[in-house]
Amino acid sequence: MKVVRTEAELQEALEPARVSRRSIGFVPTMGALHAGHLSLLTAAREQGDVVVLSIFVNPLQFGADEDLAAYPRSEEADLEMARDAGVDVSFVPSVDEMYPAGRSTTVSVRGPARLLEGAARPGHFDGVATVVAKLFNQVRPQRAYFGQKDAQQVAVIKALVRDLSVPVEVVVCPTVRESDGLALSSRNAYLEPSERTAATVLWRALQAGERAVEEQATWEVVEKTMEQVVANEPGVALEYARAVAANTFEAPADGEQVLLVIAARVGRARLIDNLPVRR
Ligand code: PAF
Repeated sequence: MKVVRTEAELQEALEPARVSRRSIGFVPTMGALHAGHLSLLTAAREQGDVVVLSIFVNPLQFGADEDLAAYPRSEEADLEMARDAGVDVSFVPSVDEMYPAGRSTTVSVRGPARLLEGAARPGHFDGVATVVAKLFNQVRPQRAYFGQKDAQQVAVIKALVRDLSVPVEVVVCPTVRESDGLALSSRNAYLEPSERTAATVLWRALQAGERAVEEQATWEVVEKTMEQVVANEPGVALEYARAVAANTFEAPADGEQVLLVIAARVGRARLIDNLPVRR
């Protein structure tokens, strides 16, 4: 596996793949890799010729009061996991490499980016879209892999790819969960042991919501059902529990793919999760 830190090194490492027209599968990450990331790397390994991983904690997608400084960083362990997963090239740029002084362009996203996570974290999806657009241009992959856990990020990136005609296929891989249902997330590292137990309430609320959908409850009742489950868990502050259309994150219309989405604070961690449901 090659570890490259500059765009020039990245282009040099990918030149042979481009010349021989081998397909590139790309997994962008902020590091602190876990089994969720591993599932993306495994899918990229199975479906493509060359696997590229990026590790970059993107300051543009963190608000001033968010956890940029504290965000878990574990480059050595990440690179070992990447090697074991069959990654060919790991791109680990510095902030200065990605955002040199004088930079004057950012990507601004609306649509699904305005709501829920976008409303709770102003500027977050512009930061995600800016770095993902730049990484797509640097890596020029045929396929890029994202986790269903960040469903609204997926909707924003699919819109970006469609709206700017980016020649990449967005592949969405299922959420990977602990045995008790907690969705894997780098931010789970912030949870104290008692909080770790309480954090399963997000999954329990989504499952209760799914049962209500199966019982033909209205979306309002589905949302109330999820809220009630969280209200019964001390120490967890619900931010939202909603049923939304998967592509727009607006209220679902008949026939649209619906997602139950939830966000809550558990101790220092702000956790999100979701569950696709069918009527
Ligand atoms: O999902 C993430 O880890 C990040 O938002 C991404 C897509 C790597 C952009 O920084």
